Amino acid sequence: MYAQGMKVGIFDSGLGGLFTLRAIAETLPKYDYVYLGDTKHLPYGSRSHDEIYQYLKEGLSFLFQNECGLVIVACNSASAEALKRVQSEYLPIHYPDRKVLGMIVPMTEACASYDHVGLIATLATVHSGAYEREFKKRTPHTRLTSLATPNLVPLIESGDHERVVASLKEYLAQLTDIDALLLGCTHYAIVKDIIQKIVPTSVAIISQDTVVPLKTSDYLDRHPEIEKTLSRDGTKAFFVTSMSDRFRELAKDWFGEAIIVQEVSLPEDVK
Ligand code: DGL
Repeated sequence: MYAQGMKVGIFDSGLGGLFTLRAIAETLPKYDYVYLGDTKHLPYGSRSHDEIYQYLKEGLSFLFQNECGLVIVACNSASAEALKRVQSEYLPIHYPDRKVLGMIVPMTEACASYDHVGLIATLATVHSGAYEREFKKRTPHTRLTSLATPNLVPLIESGDHERVVASLKEYLAQLTDIDALLLGCTHYAIVKDIIQKIVPTSVAIISQDTVVPLKTSDYLDRHPEIEKTLSRDGTKAFFVTSMSDRFRELAKDWFGEAIIVQEVSLPEDVK
């Protein structure tokens, strides 16, 4: 039995997930959204499995307490390192009626028609091997070449355009003969336009702001028992665990001046 009047939660380690939320809400505007950016613990990309698992549980617990029935983990590092464990160990005991979806499955599915995909992602995502496992299972004929690109998140967060371009050029030169480039990190969608100018036009860019809204819509069509529990006032609430001017600026740029971003502390004793 599912509770009624539930919201859609979007979880990320920082601000990149805002871009994913904006895209989802453009496609599915009627639902109510709660965004949580765990900016206090950013970057997840250089953290251990146990740290990411713990922070993800704390973030989910906050979102569930704020009436989220469905949570989309926009953060690839958290999806890659901790989602399966959350689904098998944490949810069944503490929140058996809530659903949590990640990035690895939908992004992999979006690559199925390509021959050779280049993945750029954080160290945590690449080291987890999650994309390799999912590619083998879902699209075994597609070759995957993974490249950890740890300098990009701090540069994108800093907003230093020239250094972002230089770093992207250096990294992308290492991925040759690919026909698609998978942006395996929330932040990379923000610089998709720059990436498009660097890679040959024959390379398709697989980005979560285009993939995830359609996959979410498809998921809700296939799961009416979840869809009918969702409230429909078209609201958005924004929370971070550590406030920054950059987060406020971007949130206002993307969602309008009127939005309110609140700083919150997460429950730290989540088992
Ligand atoms: N949100 C993370 C991801 O998608 C990137 C930022 C971080 O390292 O925390 O992998």
